[in-house]
Parts: sequence; structure tokens; C-alpha cells
Amino acid sequence: MSVFVPRRFQKAGRPAPTRHSIHPLLAARWSPRAFAPDETVSSDQLHSILEAARWAPSSFNEQPWRFVVGTREEPEFLSALQDLLMEGNSWARAAPVLILSAYTPTSGRDGSRNRVALRDLGAAEENLVLQAFDLGLVTHQMGGFDVERARNLLPGDLEPGSMIAVGPPGDAEELPDRLKEREERPRRRRPLDTMVSLGHWDDFRDPDDG
Ligand SMILES: Cc1cc2nc3c(=O)[nH]c(=O)nc-3n(C[C@H](O)[C@H](O)[C@H](O)COP(=O)(O)O)c2cc1C
Repeated sequence: MSVFVPRRFQKAGRPAPTRHSIHPLLAARWSPRAFAPDETVSSDQLHSILEAARWAPSSFNEQPWRFVVGTREEPEFLSALQDLLMEGNSWARAAPVLILSAYTPTSGRDGSRNRVALRDLGAAEENLVLQAFDLGLVTHQMGGFDVERARNLLPGDLEPGSMIAVGPPGDAEELPDRLKEREERPRRRRPLDTMVSLGHWDDFRDPDDG
């Protein structure tokens, strides 16, 4: 199925080849590695994407998510966040904004472990990411960073979630060949019937069944 992509998402460039109709914003979101070198994220844009995260749903409305944000306004702090990135994610140093997401693992109600805190953080991140794309920015979430060091830098008992690179889209042609090739790979997902069991407990098709 071809997806109609509104002009404001087109700069991001690589819509999902969906089999059923989905919102164009969802199809437009992807995880690029190229950021425009001389452009930045305005304060309004930054606050807008964080506000989007704020309005995510969460269990008991506990909002366990926290975001540590580095921008080019504070180069030393941005650099400290960049230093957490694993070698394979060095391309993210080009992003004008880096966010370390984290969550409070215990419930504010009774101090018990909040089993769904990481889930809630994921929902908030998705809000943030989609809002960014709606503003013409791109994002890339990363689990590849020094989690132990991040845990030590974070206050209290906050648990690291992911690092999120945010910025205006760049030109994949400017990336090293190894990364450029990854940007050009077809976008893929497992078929729906390998992840959905409709009216059964276990009717998931084996992905190898073709
Ligand atoms: C929690 C999380 C961690 C990820 N970690 C990395 C990472 O360390 N490095 C990387 O290049 N991409 C990372 N990704 C991006 C995924 O590889 C990407 O979302 C996936 O391949 C689907 O591609 P798409 O986002 O372009 O649809 C991560 C994504 C998520 C949600």
C-alpha cells in the first residue's frame, strides 16, 4: 500500500511501506543517522517535544519518566552526554540535541517496584519522537551507551532508559559509506500475523513460513 505523506514530513524522507492504512506521521517516523550540520533545534521546538512526552499516559498517572537534555547552548554538558555513546553510535555526536531518558523504578505511592515504569517511559518517548517528526525534526533512539556510567551520573535511584538524538534531518550522502548503506536498506517489519493472535492464545505464524 502506498502512503500519502504530507509535505511537512517529506523532508524526513523514508516512509514505511505499510500493508494497511496508518497515520502519515507514524509512517513518516524512522531512525536516521544524518543530521543537518548547521541547523539547530529551537527552544520552542525542544519544549514542544518535551511537552508531548509529558502528556503520555502512565500507570496511576505516576509519570515515572525523566529526561536529561543536552543542547549546543551548553556545549560542555552536551559533550558529557556524547561521551556516554558507544563507538557504534558516534554519528549521534552530530545531533544538536541529545537526551538521556530515565525512569523512577519504584512507585511514588508505596515504594514498591513499578513493573510498568519502563513501559511508561517508552510511551513518553514515542510521544516525543512523533512530536519531533511533526515539527520537521528527526530522532534516533539508542540503547548503545554506557548504562553503568549514566546510572552513576543520574541523581537518586533513576534508571537509564535510552539516549535520543534529535535534530533537523541531514543528507545521508554525507555519511561514511558503512552508515549510508544502512540508511538505504529497505524498511522492514515482521508480518502482522506473526505478532498478533486474533481470538486465540497462540496463533502466531512462524516468521520462517514465508
Ligand atoms: C530502545 C531503542 C534502542 C535502540 N538502540 C539503537 C542503537 O543503539 N543504535 C542504533 O543505531 N539504533 C538503535 N535503535 C534504532 C532501531 O534500530 C530502529 O528503531 C529499528 O531498526 C527500526 O527502524 P526505524 O526506527 O527506522 O523504523 C534503537 C531503537 C530503540 C527504540
